Amino acid sequence: MSDNKVALVTGASRGIGAAIAARFAREGWDLTLSSRGRDALEQKASELRELGAGRVEVIPADMTDQDAVATLGTAHAEAFGRCDALVINAGMGQKGPIADLPVRRFDRLYEVNVRAPYVLLQSLLPVLRSTASTAGAAKVIAIASITGVYPEPELSAYGATKAALISLCETFNLEESDGGVSATTIAPGYVDTDMSEWTKDAIPGDQMITVDDVATVAHTVTELSRYAVLPNVVLTRPGANLHRA
Ligand SMILES: NC(=O)c1ccc[n+]([C@@H]2O[C@H](COP(=O)([O-])OP(=O)(O)OC[C@H]3O[C@@H](n4cnc5c(N)ncnc54)[C@H](OP(=O)(O)O)[C@@H]3O)[C@@H](O)[C@H]2O)c1
Repeated sequence: MSDNKVALVTGASRGIGAAIAARFAREGWDLTLSSRGRDALEQKASELRELGAGRVEVIPADMTDQDAVATLGTAHAEAFGRCDALVINAGMGQKGPIADLPVRRFDRLYEVNVRAPYVLLQSLLPVLRSTASTAGAAKVIAIASITGVYPEPELSAYGATKAALISLCETFNLEESDGGVSATTIAPGYVDTDMSEWTKDAIPGDQMITVDDVATVAHTVTELSRYAVLPNVVLTRPGANLHRA
């Protein structure tokens, strides 16, 4: 088992996941980085080693591929024997009214934003439990969305998957938190990343929540003892529409 703290971060190649991984790297954590493209992950891994990360493993996995997601979990556990933070961050968005959004798009969103997190929780649970029993606590940090708490027109399918993710993590806490493993969902409004590019004409990127804001919340969760469970954190933008993305 590694002596360093260890995290598995999905969607680590860019955006919010890369910022969270960088926060851990600066503190010398060991890391498993995952997303679809190996080249971007290898590039990110060498940047994180420069920042101070310990051992960094790269395990590509497409979150639509249930077997690949399960294998990611077991490969991480075999490599490190420890998981202080499971960061379920990889996700996708879709926009469209219920009247028009094809069901196959809803299914794809569900696979990536809900089914993959479920498979990750199942496959990492043994190592999360053993980490909590030796290190005191293990944390799951899942990136949801403010639309999973306060619905918005044209984001029905996306919001529904994020509401499901929040519910999944709440149930996880009911079942596992007595053993020192607990989950926090972070539900941000628009964050300045590639995913929010489509709306930057209306909301400039430099007025959005930053990836470092989200990384700060994620890192704070890892500082909490096993006796503090933080279920869901809504991170919203300033102004009169606090319940809008
Ligand atoms: N940006 C926002 O405004 C915002 C607001 C609220 C919540 N969120 C949530 O925050 C999370 C991260 O979003 P982001 O803004 O950082 O997005 P991003 O910059 O587009 O990054 C998405 C990350 O997920 C990976 N990814 C995408 N689809 C994948 C798949 N099918 N399998 C495996 N990896 C996949 C991407 O890597 P590859 O493409 O290389 O696979 C990338 O590393 C998502 O869950 C998103 O829903 C974002």
